[in-house]
Amino acid sequence: MKYIKTAILVFIGIMIIIQFIPAGKKNISTTTSVYSLEKTMNVPGEILGNLKNGCYDCHSNNTKYPWYSNIQPVTWWLNSHIEEGKEHLNFDEFGNLDTESRAEMMEEMAEVIEEHEMPMASYTWLHPEARFNDNTNNAIVTWLKSQSENAVDKQNEKKTKTNESEGE
Ligand code: HEC
Repeated sequence: MKYIKTAILVFIGIMIIIQFIPAGKKNISTTTSVYSLEKTMNVPGEILGNLKNGCYDCHSNNTKYPWYSNIQPVTWWLNSHIEEGKEHLNFDEFGNLDTESRAEMMEEMAEVIEEHEMPMASYTWLHPEARFNDNTNNAIVTWLKSQSENAVDKQNEKKTKTNESEGE
């Protein structure tokens, strides 16, 4: 009994102490990016809304922080997700990718959504609004795939044209 009490006190002590460790800068941009997905492409409103709800907290320059994000160790845990997420994909930098990379990224996004890998389960557990139902999931996946194929087609068209003009 005594050990349990000590263990609980030590745990509480650690929890209090770690609250004083600085959390670093928040992922909140003061400027709007001209390279964002919606500035680069024509995204249907509903799809954009879903992506914003489901992905932007970890894959954009603006995270909506819930109140518990100010409590350690949640802050670290969130920050590491945001940092890692943005390394893979940043919706605010989408326009900086070349056509081929955009197509690949949209294909990859479609895959992770189709396989329910994203949004991450640990995220949708706390953010029910980010849970996609089957219809929403299908709509997003279909749109992403069609856009990805479109982009590849256009790229091929361009290549064929250059080849033709080079051949003259
Ligand atoms: C809670 C934070 C979080 C949310 C929300 C989230 N992601 Fe991610 N995402 C990550 C992290 C962390 C990684 C890198 C590690 C990994 O692959 O699990 C990642 C990786 C990815 C990758 C690269 C996968 C790979 O295999 O390289 C894609 C694509 C992606 N996310 C798309 C999305 C899309 C689309 C959404 C919304 C439907 C979304 N993510 C929502 C955190 C998140």
